[in-house]
Amino acid sequence: MSEKASLKVGDIIELEIEALAPTGLGTGRYQVQDGAFAIFVPYAAPSDAIKCRIVRIFKRYAEAEMVELLKPSPYRTVPFCSHYFECGSCSLMHIDYSKQLEFKADAASFVLSRAGLGAPKEIIAPAAPLRYRARAEIHCKIAQNKKVQTGYLKRRSKKVVNLKECKILVEPCERALIVLPEILEKYLPSNIFLRNDFYFKTALFWKYPEDAAIAWIRLKQKHREKMPRVFQISEDKIEPLGEVGPHFKFPSGNIELVAHPDSFTQVNWEGNKQLVKEVIEITSEIRPEKILELHSGVGNFTVHLAKLADRVVAVEAGKKEASLLTKNLEMLGIKNVVSKRATDKRALEKLAKDGAKFNFLLCDPPRGGMGKDVVDLILSIAPDNVVYVSCNPTTLARDLKMLLKKYKPVYHKLLDLFPQTPHIEAIVWLKLSF
Ligand SMILES: C[S@@+](CC[C@H](N)C(=O)[O-])C[C@H]1O[C@@H](n2cnc3c(N)ncnc32)[C@H](O)[C@@H]1O
Repeated sequence: MSEKASLKVGDIIELEIEALAPTGLGTGRYQVQDGAFAIFVPYAAPSDAIKCRIVRIFKRYAEAEMVELLKPSPYRTVPFCSHYFECGSCSLMHIDYSKQLEFKADAASFVLSRAGLGAPKEIIAPAAPLRYRARAEIHCKIAQNKKVQTGYLKRRSKKVVNLKECKILVEPCERALIVLPEILEKYLPSNIFLRNDFYFKTALFWKYPEDAAIAWIRLKQKHREKMPRVFQISEDKIEPLGEVGPHFKFPSGNIELVAHPDSFTQVNWEGNKQLVKEVIEITSEIRPEKILELHSGVGNFTVHLAKLADRVVAVEAGKKEASLLTKNLEMLGIKNVVSKRATDKRALEKLAKDGAKFNFLLCDPPRGGMGKDVVDLILSIAPDNVVYVSCNPTTLARDLKMLLKKYKPVYHKLLDLFPQTPHIEAIVWLKLSF
C-alpha cells in the first residue's frame, strides 16, 4: 500500500469510520508517511465508507466534513427531525438508537478503561429515546426583519436555528417552543429592538404533571417591567403569569421536588427516576450511618439518602440550589440533613480539619469533574465508600485514576439520560481498600 506523504486542510480523502468518539463524531484512521491520523467527522456512523474534506489539522488528529457517503453503515437510520443537520443539539439521530447506545457505551468504556475500570455491570436505557427532555434552554434572536427566531444554537456557532419542531422535548415543551416567536412578537416592547438587546434566552419547562409548559423569559433587568416574563402554554391557551411562582415541580423517584428555571435539575425526568433508584440501591446495600453528599443540587438524591442514614451532610455551592434544597427539606419535614452552602473544596477542607468521618460519600459534580485538590481532600478524609455520579466520562476517568490509589471499584453502570446526543451518565461505586 502506498503511504500518503502528508495531510493538509482542503484535502479530500477516503475513510472507513471505525467507531464513535466520546464527542459523538465518527472516527477513522488515515495513514500518512510518519504515522496515522485520527480523523473525526460529524454525522458519520461506524461502518460508513466516506469521502471527506479536511477542515482542521492538529498534531495527531484532524477534523473533516463529509463530502460523499460511499457506502452507508448498516446502522444508519433516517433522522426524524427536519432540523437535524443544522441544529447543534442532537448529533446521533442518524444512527439507530440501539446502536447509538452501544457505540456511546463503547466510547465511555474505552475512556474509563484508561483509568483502570473494567466493563460496566450494566448499560441502561431508562427512558424513551424521544420525548424525554422536560426542560430546555432556548435561545432567542430578533432578526433584521424584526421577526423572532427561537431554538438551539447551530453546531459550533452562535447562530440560532429557528425551530419548528423538537422531538426530544416532551410534547408540552415542544408546543411551547413552536408558539414562542408568536408570544415574543406580541409582547416584546418595541424599544427592545435596540442594539445589544437582539439576543436573550428562554427556559421552557414542563408543568409536571399537567399537560402544559411554562416559558420563563430571561429579559435584561431594564426590560423586566415592560412585559410579563412567565407564560403558561397549554393546548388551547397562552396565559401570561406575571412574576408569580417561576418554580416548577419535578419527580425525583417517588418524591416531587421544587426547582427553578435557573437551578440545576436533570432534564430527563424518567431517566432521573432510574438514576435515583441506582443511588438508593447502593446506599441500601452500604447501610451507612453518616453520609457526605457533595453537589447536592436542590436535593434530588438528598431526600432519599435522608431516609437511609442517621445523618446526611449535603454540600452545594449554588445559591439558588442551596436555598431550594432547604425549601425541599422543609417541605418534606426532613430533619436529619445538615445543608451547607459551600464549594466541595471549602467544605472538605473544613471537614478534614475537624477530623470528620463518613461511611459514604456521594458526589455528582458538573461536567468539569472535581480535579486534584478536591480528590486529594477526599483521599485524606477516606470515606469507606465513594459513589461518583458523572455526566462526563473524560473528567470522571481523570478523577478515578487518583481515587483508585486508595479505592477499589465495586461496579459501575452507564445510563443513557441523553438519547440522540453523545452524552452519557455514569455511576461508579468504590470501596476503600488500603
Ligand atoms: C450535576 S449537578 C448535580 C445536582 C444534583 N446532585 C442532582 O442530581 O440534581 C452539579 C451540582 O453541583 C453544584 N456545584 C458546582 N460546582 C460546585 C462546587 N465547586 N462545589 C459544590 N457544588 C458545586 C452545581 O450548582 C450543581 O447543583
